[in-house]
Amino acid sequence: MKKVPSADDLLSMIEIGSGNLASIGEFARRRLGNGAQRVFIVSNKKVFGLYGRQVETSLKKAGFLTATALIGDGERFKTLRSAERVLAAMAAARIERTDAVLSLGGGVVGDLGGFAASIYLRGIKHIQLPTTLLAMIDSSVGGKTGVNASFGKNTIGAFHPAAGVFADVDCLSTLPEREMTAGACEMVKHAALAGKGLLKRTQAHFSCRSQPEAGERLVSLVRENIAFKAMVVDQDPFEDIKRTDGRSRKILNFGHTLAHALEKVTNYRYFRHGEAVGYGILYAAELAKKLAICDKQSVELLYDVVHSVGALPSLAAIEPRQVFEAFQFDKKNISGSLQMVLLRGIGRPIILSGDKIPPKTAFSTLEAFLKLQK
Ligand SMILES: NC(=O)c1ccc[n+]([C@@H]2O[C@H](COP(=O)([O-])OP(=O)(O)OC[C@H]3O[C@@H](n4cnc5c(N)ncnc54)[C@H](O)[C@@H]3O)[C@@H](O)[C@H]2O)c1
Ligand SMILES: [Zn+2]
Repeated sequence: MKKVPSADDLLSMIEIGSGNLASIGEFARRRLGNGAQRVFIVSNKKVFGLYGRQVETSLKKAGFLTATALIGDGERFKTLRSAERVLAAMAAARIERTDAVLSLGGGVVGDLGGFAASIYLRGIKHIQLPTTLLAMIDSSVGGKTGVNASFGKNTIGAFHPAAGVFADVDCLSTLPEREMTAGACEMVKHAALAGKGLLKRTQAHFSCRSQPEAGERLVSLVRENIAFKAMVVDQDPFEDIKRTDGRSRKILNFGHTLAHALEKVTNYRYFRHGEAVGYGILYAAELAKKLAICDKQSVELLYDVVHSVGALPSLAAIEPRQVFEAFQFDKKNISGSLQMVLLRGIGRPIILSGDKIPPKTAFSTLEAFLKLQK
């Protein structure tokens, strides 16, 4: 396993801007050095069609040769099979150890491109160019790369921190509304863990997105989110399984116990992951209130903020018992017992093990929560 960069190192490897896409070549040159000759772009047809030419032109201007592999669009293409195709295309393009992969796309492309970079010739450099909000603030930071397998999501992979993360928030102008909301829910998750300041700024941004200064505000929010995630990762780079303190990387799973269960019972087809996290945040807040851990005001604030970022799909057809059963299979649970991230208040996460959460309370809160959302 490689050393994961510190939060400071990480921030120096990141460039976030608005309208800066044409400078990706210079950024890549700075991050890769003069020894790198080729940049291998991994993307999908849709994203490459929107931004590929501009990225290629800029890389060529910075003296790189480029080659490209496009994978299918969507989670179902995040597989070993797609990765193998990408690796074969890299070999055909004569990518060498001093060269690099650049992932241009959302989290699916980033996870797969990063994974291909991590195993090609035992590891070459990877640059992330995230084009979804979720990828900008979450998946491109922290070094987790991988693919899905028949035995589970993200079960094959490697820690392979990117040599650089470059984002142009203007790319989000073409992102479908639902994808934007999904990414924004992950931002709410970060803000709920980080503190009231970020939570309020997130709410303010999404409540008046049409203002002229919204672009600049989003750049700062993306930066703050990355800085927060980098700080958490820095404290616990490889997600030590035994840690249960409030500085463990596991806190980033806040909202994910219900989210994974909702995704599972709907066969990963109904929710965008971030949308399910939006509901997961609210359920975790309700449960913490029920357990007398969290105050009512914090819970109400979380409802306001989640609602401010966009509409979530209806929960009308969701069966509480089925969802509850799916909790048990969540991979974040340890030895069959439920382990959950809850908040004592905004910015005050705790990790509770199953014996501190009576299953009856977890279930009755879930039932009431699902009813309330219908
Ligand atoms: N590595 C990590 O730490 C980490 C963290 C969170 C999530 N993830 C992974 O990220 C993936 C989800 O990522 P996602 O939410 O970005 O989904 P995604 O990559 O599937 O992208 C969502 C959709 O938006 C399209 N798209 C991307 N950029 C666009 C743009 N600028 N304009 C128009 N359309 C655009 C994509 O083609 C796709 O159809 C999951 O596989 C998840 O496991 C990884
Ligand atoms: Zn998530």
